[in-house]
Amino acid sequence: MPLVSGKLLFEKANEFGFAVGAFNFNNMEFLRAILESAEEEEAPVFVQTTESAIRYAGIEFLSGMVHAVKDKYRIPFALHLDHGKHVETVLLAIRYGYTSVMIDYSDRSYGENLEVTRRVVSLCAPLGISVEAELGQLAGIEDNVESQEEFLVDPVQAKDFALRTGIDALAPAIGTAHGAFKFKGEAKLDFERLRKVKELTNLPLVLHGASGVYYEYVNEINRYGGELEGAKGVPDEDIRKAVELGINKINTDTDLRLAFVAVLRRLMSEERKNFDPRKFFKPAMEEVKEVVKRRIRLYGSSGRASLF
Ligand code: G3H
Ligand code: 13P
Ligand code: ZN
Repeated sequence: MPLVSGKLLFEKANEFGFAVGAFNFNNMEFLRAILESAEEEEAPVFVQTTESAIRYAGIEFLSGMVHAVKDKYRIPFALHLDHGKHVETVLLAIRYGYTSVMIDYSDRSYGENLEVTRRVVSLCAPLGISVEAELGQLAGIEDNVESQEEFLVDPVQAKDFALRTGIDALAPAIGTAHGAFKFKGEAKLDFERLRKVKELTNLPLVLHGASGVYYEYVNEINRYGGELEGAKGVPDEDIRKAVELGINKINTDTDLRLAFVAVLRRLMSEERKNFDPRKFFKPAMEEVKEVVKRRIRLYGSSGRASLF
């Protein structure tokens, strides 16, 4: 199956009650690991790049790699712009054959978020490109939940936003955060808020900052010179619950980075005579594949390619 619009992935996931994995990449190693794992799991998938990925690698390389290999895979997959902060980046993504975009004005006023998101929908919808937007901010919830409420999505506002923008998917802030240090105390997601957003919008919903930050990789990194004490992610059971409550796309970047770097750190320490990067990168890429498969199974998306 060719590269497809994110619309198709969002709609099927919402209809059948599972979540499609969305994995970030900046280079060939990650892209290949993601697509090979999804193919082996027979799962639909989003491959996504941020603006900083575009600054790092260049959009020609990122989209060029995807378009060069798209017919090699049978699974349906979308090329998505993650956290597009500028309309200009959305235009660039359209030009380079992205099939899905996120416009992220979540740190601006509600009015600005609404206006710019509507504009992006009016640019993308006629081209069949899906649009994701975000409400609330990804600050994590610390022990004092009340003090963080202002950062979380307002379900009534989410309904208004959905109706007035025509977006294909919404990322509601429910207490997760990006990176490897998501919670100071116990992990705490606001599931009631998530339930309410789903009930009021019935939109496909997206969970950002969802990495599990698995201790195996954190420990390995720390053992070989890293300093990631206190790293904490979203427990697997919380991910399962979020999917049950209506999350249909789950973003993972940190877990892939941790797996890759854990292998690099160990090998660079153990194999002191090697200076062929491929001998470091290949096993690191294999470890990224393992994490991607683990995440895809967790989301309930294994075998779902047959729905398309
Ligand atoms: O937004 C999610 C990413 O994990 C941060 O990615 O370092 O490419 O901006 P970035
Ligand atoms: P993590 O940092 O938890 O992997 O989240 C990634 C993300 O939300 C990308 O948009
Ligand atoms: Zn994100």
